[in-house]
Amino acid sequence: MRTLRMGRPTPEQLTLLQDTGAGFRLIRGAAGSGKTATALFRLRQLCGARRRRRRQMDSSEPTRVLVLTFNRTLQGYISQLVSDQVEQSEDLVLTVDTFAHWARSLVSRRNLLDDKDRRNQIASLVQQAGIPTQHLDYYVDEIEYVLGRFHPDHLASYLRATRSGRGRAPAVSQELRKKLLDKVVGPYTALKSERGKVDWNDVAVEAAAGVPNKQYEIVVVDEAQDLSANQIRAICAHLSNDHVTTFIMDAVQRIYPQSFAWVEVGIDMRPQMVHTLKRNYRNTRQIARLASSLIHGLPPDPDGAVPDPSECAADGPRPIVYIGNFSVQLGRMLDAMEPQLLNGDEVAIIHPRGGRWFGFTKSVLQERRISYCELTRNPVWPTGPEQFALSTIHSAKGLEFDHVLMPGLSKQLTLHGEEDGDGTLDNLRRLVAMGIGRARKTVMLGYKPGDRSAVFDFIDPTTYDAVEV
Ligand SMILES: Nc1ncnc2c1ncn2[C@@H]1O[C@H](COP(=O)(O)OP(=O)(O)OP(=O)(O)O)[C@@H](O)[C@H]1O
Ligand SMILES: [Mg+2]
Repeated sequence: MRTLRMGRPTPEQLTLLQDTGAGFRLIRGAAGSGKTATALFRLRQLCGARRRRRRQMDSSEPTRVLVLTFNRTLQGYISQLVSDQVEQSEDLVLTVDTFAHWARSLVSRRNLLDDKDRRNQIASLVQQAGIPTQHLDYYVDEIEYVLGRFHPDHLASYLRATRSGRGRAPAVSQELRKKLLDKVVGPYTALKSERGKVDWNDVAVEAAAGVPNKQYEIVVVDEAQDLSANQIRAICAHLSNDHVTTFIMDAVQRIYPQSFAWVEVGIDMRPQMVHTLKRNYRNTRQIARLASSLIHGLPPDPDGAVPDPSECAADGPRPIVYIGNFSVQLGRMLDAMEPQLLNGDEVAIIHPRGGRWFGFTKSVLQERRISYCELTRNPVWPTGPEQFALSTIHSAKGLEFDHVLMPGLSKQLTLHGEEDGDGTLDNLRRLVAMGIGRARKTVMLGYKPGDRSAVFDFIDPTTYDAVEV
């Protein structure tokens, strides 16, 4: 699988490369606007500048550089790009890692509660608290949001805080917030300590506390919209006095229940520190129209951007939605890909669920003698000759492919509430739009008649061709 093809910086990227002063910077823009590419150009430039300064000062201390991503697949992808961009040598100590792995390396080893157990524990406490179970996932996310946003000593701030990025429904009254704190957060924290366990949020909180050496001079944080406030605090605790830290963010692509204001993490993000990229270098106008119609009308966020078809440089075929049994949807998609494979194109089959869900798809690929790689949570970017990749949509975040296939967008795979503004449904719309936004040339979606995911209720039907199969 290929990584980004990075040419020369464009004029809007050059502006960002000239802004080399110390402190924080925020790069924002829609999917495909070149945020990651720009951050990598910037990284190369900053590393070169700091290196020259060291030599002039005759310093033997190396420059410490930290590049963090949210998930392991993106780490593999970025590591490959960083090694192409930045010349490695003894005077540069470069760490490219996921936030979770990096933070864990900083804290004492303890019994870690994995995310699945954590969600199960929280879910059973939500049920015991007598909170309506049709919104169970939403309230489990709400607890994750609370734990990630506030320092454990300041959880009570939740009672009066503005809950940004959580959708309009179900409503979370002040009374319910108190119940969530008393009946879920409190008992969950007690349960962990009784069992001698910590969770990933505890790791972030500990990584932010009492840091003896503030070491990193150059920091890049990709996909920062999915980090919690506590995770950002942990990064900030490790910056040198003259650090240059670049956050890359698109709140529209936020797929985990995290949201905070910069001031909450101690950063005064003034307008001159924020750069917004406008062009879309990745998608065709047709793909951007499909993605933008799906997320049109979601609550706006200043750190997020809806793909703008007028900023795309290329036209391509209209996306197709296949309506039929899963095996027929997949078959039609694979048939359509055959001529594209001869051109050397790369194809991703992505889906909200991973693991066993891909079982049937794999057997079809094997029958057709199509070799594929699996990207989900893979920390090493596959550099082999496979032209097909299978991935959850989550793990495809930040990546790009020539063609994106998303069969099986059914009702039960994507459960959510029924009310207008439902937070879980909002997230699903963002997730699927982010998946669509991975494509450079074509997109195909699919569902079974009578089992159509609610995401299709939001897509403008003039943005795709529906094909019954
Ligand atoms: N200077 C450039 N010249 C040519 N192509 C570029 C340039 N900068 C970016 N691109 C192309 O733009 C596309 C998107 O880039 P990138 O992945 O950096 O976008 P992004 O904003 O990080 O997207 P996402 O939000 O999905 O992570 C890539 O195909 C990349 O090669
Ligand atoms: Mg990116």
